[in-house]
Amino acid sequence: MISKQTIDKIFSTIRVEEIIGEYVQLKRAGSNFKGLSPFHEEKTASFVVSPSKQIWKDFSSGKGGTAISFLMEIENFTYPEALRHAAKKYGIEIEENLQEQTEEQKASQTERDMLYKIHEVANHFHQEQLFETEEGKNIGLAYFKERELRDSIIRKFQLGYSPEKKNAFTEYAVEKGYSREILESSGLSIFPDNAPGGIDRFRERVVFPIHSFSGRVLGFGARVLKNNIKTAKYLNSPETEIYHKSAVLYGLNHSKQAISKNNLCLLVEGYMDVIALHQSGIENVVSSSGTSLTTEQIKLIKRLTENVTILFDGDAAGIKASFRSIDMLLSEGMNIRVLLFPDGDDPDSFARKHPQEYVENYIKTEANDFINFKSEILLKEAGSDSIKKAEAIRDIVKSVAFVSNALKQEVYLKEISTKFGLSEQSLSNELGVQKQVTQHIYKAESPKPQPKLELVEETALTVNPLLVLEEKLVELMLKYGDQILARKNEEGETYEITVIEEIMAHLDEDGYEILSPVNVKIVKEISDGIAQNELRSGKFFFSLMDEELTGTVANALFEQYENSDWGKHNIFFSREDEVVPKLVKDVMIRHKREYVVKMITEIKNSLQDDTDNTDNYMKIVKLNELRKEMDAEVYRIL
Ligand code: CTP
Ligand code: MN
Repeated sequence: MISKQTIDKIFSTIRVEEIIGEYVQLKRAGSNFKGLSPFHEEKTASFVVSPSKQIWKDFSSGKGGTAISFLMEIENFTYPEALRHAAKKYGIEIEENLQEQTEEQKASQTERDMLYKIHEVANHFHQEQLFETEEGKNIGLAYFKERELRDSIIRKFQLGYSPEKKNAFTEYAVEKGYSREILESSGLSIFPDNAPGGIDRFRERVVFPIHSFSGRVLGFGARVLKNNIKTAKYLNSPETEIYHKSAVLYGLNHSKQAISKNNLCLLVEGYMDVIALHQSGIENVVSSSGTSLTTEQIKLIKRLTENVTILFDGDAAGIKASFRSIDMLLSEGMNIRVLLFPDGDDPDSFARKHPQEYVENYIKTEANDFINFKSEILLKEAGSDSIKKAEAIRDIVKSVAFVSNALKQEVYLKEISTKFGLSEQSLSNELGVQKQVTQHIYKAESPKPQPKLELVEETALTVNPLLVLEEKLVELMLKYGDQILARKNEEGETYEITVIEEIMAHLDEDGYEILSPVNVKIVKEISDGIAQNELRSGKFFFSLMDEELTGTVANALFEQYENSDWGKHNIFFSREDEVVPKLVKDVMIRHKREYVVKMITEIKNSLQDDTDNTDNYMKIVKLNELRKEMDAEVYRIL
């Protein structure tokens, strides 16, 4: 854990305009900077950075936040990764909060650090061997040249060579002071009884480092140099504390930006496929490197795009792998296309045979949706055998059963129905059967995806005025929390109160239930603050380790005057901060009014035909009076 002090230091040192300036061309526009959104293709600049507030907002997508959240968006960093990245840029030393860790956690932290280190050392060693030694140049580099890789791409992917000598690397690492234990647990060396000096795992092979999302070396794959040799073509690092092969995609660190920019991820089988496509200029590509695709890997892709095109070899193994991958991807809610290369070609050989434009075009035009793809293959197999044909259609419907979105399911069923001239009803029946079967299939690895939360929240926001006003109240506390309001009490005496205190008192008074979970968090922090005589508004929240809060707070802080939706609620004024006293009062009353309306509705709904409802009617009358009073008051304020 990065210590709170370090986080504060980072936030007070970094400049949002400098960090964003590395990715977006910014031009001054009044007190702000403007530029083209890095998240969307656009012609007019809708991306705004505020140096005074140290926040940014992308009006085309509605995203916004701090410099740190920008790094998370654009680099797909986690929160700590983004903090570390920024700290490095500004030369801030990271202080870890070690006292919060147990002895066990500390030990595993050092173990992980050592593993990262030894992989860095090995990566350096392999590259040096490739480029600087006679053996490396004659054997390793010659091999890559034979496969038509240029120097620049070899360096980009940090390819290397592990020499013939049994313990070349082990010896090198031991000399540098690395222990036998760490060499062993990294999987880089083996220490059998008859070789006390150790043996390198990857001997006489070319080496492909496998990187994490943010570019750290986690492990290696290594290929033999001759195809006819009787040993596994590729050797890979074993599972370690830092390398979990089911959670890593080869090439992702180099491809992530192109994937989100193209809003499409190409999925291939091998290391060489990723590298060859990159060399030909196609950079939105990753590989699951020989393991069958996992849910974790799909989730990595989903952070960048929901669109995947599977590029597989045209051999039987490739086809089978693609069937399973199709179902996995569908059950994670991805949109997929599938492309098989002509027999004998894989993406690597194909990319080397044809120019970039041809390959791009080929992928675009030849990739099939999964229904056409599966039916083409399965129907060819079935020939004129009608039982087999029915079996094939059932197999296709099975894939549809993995789709979690009901609307998409229906579209797919329609497509199958037209394609085969079958009634939608019978397909729908079949789907029902298949769903029961498929429900159990990937359950162990992936819980069935929940219906999309964002959608639910979005509709709630437009239909629930209570929630809209709650958002406004929280926004006011975040933006103007420490502003002092001059108020009059019932006796006509003036008193002073901060915005935070007034709104918190309002929320307390009627015991409102806070509706949105983010607001619950924010209100809790603010109220804890009050208990400690501290006004927590705005920037206070940036240093909390909470991405969700950061985004919400930054959005609230942004000068939203021009783009404000206050108008939607019939609130018009000259400048937001000039009218804060009125605004606070107004929103509180509207909030209360909506609450009263809600109570009235609830009582009305509880009325029963066969009982005496007099009490309830009385309540409704009273509440209605209250509501009218408040309507009048709102009218007076503005
Ligand atoms: N693979 C592996 N172990 C093997 C064979 C393959 O880990 N014994 C993985 C590698 O990640 C490899 C991928 O599966 O890149 C695809 O295998 P394959 O198609 O056989 O290899 P290519 O990538 O085509 O390798 P090359 O072009 O170098 O022959
Ligand atoms: Mn190949």
